[in-house]
Amino acid sequence: MTTTDTRETTATGLVFPPGFVFGAATAAYQIEGAVDVDGRGPSIWDTFSHTPGKTHLGHTGDVAVEHHARYREDVALMADLGLAAYRFSVSWSRVLPEGAGRVEQRGLDFYRRLVDELLEAGVDPWLTLYHWDLPQALQDQGGWTSRDTAERFADYAGVLYDGLGDRVSHWSTLNEPMCSALLGHMAGQHAPGHRDAVEASRATHHLLLGHGLATRVLRERGADSCGLTLNFTPMTPASDSPADVDAARRLDGQQNRMFLVPVVTGEYPADVAEDLAAAGAPLPIEDGDLELIATPLDWLGVNFYFGSVVRATEEPTGKASSFIGGERVEEVPPTGPTTTMGWGVTPHAFTDLLLRLRDTAPGLPLVITENGSAWPDEVSPDGAVHDPQRVRYLMDHLAAVTDAIELGADVRGYFAWSLLDNYEWARGYDQRFGIVHVDYDTQVRTPKDSALAYAEVIRRHAAG
Ligand code: FCB
Repeated sequence: MTTTDTRETTATGLVFPPGFVFGAATAAYQIEGAVDVDGRGPSIWDTFSHTPGKTHLGHTGDVAVEHHARYREDVALMADLGLAAYRFSVSWSRVLPEGAGRVEQRGLDFYRRLVDELLEAGVDPWLTLYHWDLPQALQDQGGWTSRDTAERFADYAGVLYDGLGDRVSHWSTLNEPMCSALLGHMAGQHAPGHRDAVEASRATHHLLLGHGLATRVLRERGADSCGLTLNFTPMTPASDSPADVDAARRLDGQQNRMFLVPVVTGEYPADVAEDLAAAGAPLPIEDGDLELIATPLDWLGVNFYFGSVVRATEEPTGKASSFIGGERVEEVPPTGPTTTMGWGVTPHAFTDLLLRLRDTAPGLPLVITENGSAWPDEVSPDGAVHDPQRVRYLMDHLAAVTDAIELGADVRGYFAWSLLDNYEWARGYDQRFGIVHVDYDTQVRTPKDSALAYAEVIRRHAAG
């Protein structure tokens, strides 16, 4: 463990390289609401959230935090906090209601208005094409288990670049394909809610293929800042026993290496491909796919929340695993303090991860595209939202980033997850990740203490 586990970090103790970008992130389905407005088509998250029993108390993103109507107010908030950049995602079915073919101009216009507002406020837009909300029309044709979806994704990338390429410089294809593939098709916790190893393996490969195809399209059209966002959970074996070590290898393989390694090297890790084949779910690779998947990137988006400890079990756990062939593997519950998600707080694992990426993806700049924590926030009688645990988490994780930079990790920016409290997928409105509090009855936004602390970090950085 490094010192970041125990030190109390403050804004004054943090020094970032010149040009380091500070921002905050959101995702379309988690904030926009307005699901029936201006011709938007349904996505798999509309279907999933409206299916009884799938989400906390049946919560849906129908209203969310009304960002579609309130985007001006939200951009003003970003400017007040001094954010230099904003990472958001586009709802594919708002722009292409059937997923392909007909473009809904009113959908595209919403994002043009949003981007113009950002540019006017001096906030640089970082656009993610896909944050989990596949058009339902494409799901009806097999979704990511079908190779065609990768082609449709590339078409969609072209439509968006044609519509917004004149004003958006930073493009990212996918957010966390691990979650789309494995939580969506193996664990069944996310849309489309399936539990099938063959589907999970097919979705994995087609997501990566879609990433490669879309990146080619963006590049051909002139984009010069293209990225991919992956979520990393470092996996530490609970003991030195060969079984625990192999359990950690398997989970690290599917969580971390299966998505990163082919993008960087043009090959899947051999042990991971073997695990999948042994589980009867081989990756459906065709000639030329890996070359496409390894289309060069300008930066890698890194999402980090916590590190895990993993052990092998003698008998199958009996729980739906997120991992293919993961029936005899479990994550050990964290020992220290946990967030309301039940996640541990492990800033040292963040530094270690960034150093590992420095070594496995040499020469590829890193951008922290998500990092944050959920706590039981309330508006106090003084009108403020005091969230000391989030302030601590934020500062300690920013310090973890500076530690990694000092040791040679090429980290260019940090986006806090999230700008606003929002719809936390299957956990509904139960989990508050925002640095800005949202009252879900009135939609009033209140910057939390963490937002003010973050603004102070940004102000000091800008002052040099
Ligand atoms: C990430 C997602 C993001 C949010 C955070 C808490 O996995 O990308 O949308 O749900 O977790």
